[in-house]
Amino acid sequence: MLNIRIEPTKQKKQKPEQSKLGFGQYFTDHMFVMNYAEGKGWYDPRIIPYQPVSLDPSAMVFHYAQEMFEGLKAYKAPNGEALLFRPQKNIERMNNTCRRMCIPEIDPDDALQAIKAVVDYDSDWIPDAPGTSLYIRPFIIATDPRLGVHASKTYLFMIILSPVGSYYAEGLNPVKICIEREYVRAVKGGTGAAKVGGNYAASLLGQKKAEDKGYSQVLWLDGVHRRYIDEVGAMNVFFVIDNEIVTPALDEGNILPGVTRASCIELLKSWGYKVSERKIAVEELIEANNSGKLNEAFGTGTAAVISPIGELIDGDNVMELCGGKIGPISQKLYDTLTSIQWGKAEDPFGWSVKVR
Ligand code: COI
Repeated sequence: MLNIRIEPTKQKKQKPEQSKLGFGQYFTDHMFVMNYAEGKGWYDPRIIPYQPVSLDPSAMVFHYAQEMFEGLKAYKAPNGEALLFRPQKNIERMNNTCRRMCIPEIDPDDALQAIKAVVDYDSDWIPDAPGTSLYIRPFIIATDPRLGVHASKTYLFMIILSPVGSYYAEGLNPVKICIEREYVRAVKGGTGAAKVGGNYAASLLGQKKAEDKGYSQVLWLDGVHRRYIDEVGAMNVFFVIDNEIVTPALDEGNILPGVTRASCIELLKSWGYKVSERKIAVEELIEANNSGKLNEAFGTGTAAVISPIGELIDGDNVMELCGGKIGPISQKLYDTLTSIQWGKAEDPFGWSVKVR
């Protein structure tokens, strides 16, 4: 159990208008910080005013990107309670990422205590307008002031909080996604399944190409065969082909094991749908679309929640899905998942965790 020291801010910030939150633009009054040193372990857990971090310019994170991050949300339930959605899953993934990045793990109970403590301390920042939540960003950076390529011996663990609305400007309206044939995001044996900044840095050029053409995101293909669907970077992806709901399998280790992805699979199976986690070749999607069997596609993610895909673009081939509208399965998943997350519906799987 952590003994968290608290230093309150002297000047509370003005809260942004809930209708203008967007994603990740505003930060709350406080943040959680804890240090690590080899031989000492994690120490000095504290909640302090939100502020810049002072680091040596040679700090390893700047040069070799030894870092990791997570993303989860707190929701304001109708009875005023603050709820987290499956935080243990994020903490488990955080420690998996730490192992991949040679970062010391954090005791899962301590990590949960830290998340709850800082969210509770700034709980007046959890927005309550429809579709809004408090995005929680835990992250760890390597801080040794050394230029040799080695695992750092010192780290900082921080948790910052951001009141958010939709990740995409489109909200729940379908997004246009471009299949990327030139660049890849991850390869087998790489860090695709870990939540590290490097994966996102590697995605930026493809993302920019897509945005320049007016698309929201990139649909990545696997880095070996350049053929199998991987993920959308900020989301995992699902397709409804005929009567089967398919999503890329995690077994190659190049896809992020999303918490929303896992929750959607459980929900869909509980509703009796056939859900397959398997390889999906890009030609299969094109053929399914040509024969009228590609009924629906959507992305899933903590930030994006459920994001229907209205258009898939592969070079000159523009595949319109569901008439560019929200498909029935995307809509049902969104309604069910968000009702559970916001504490408005029964929680048959026991996914919600009270902050207090
Ligand atoms: C999340 O969904 O929480 C993510 O981390 C995706 C992100 C790149 C915004």
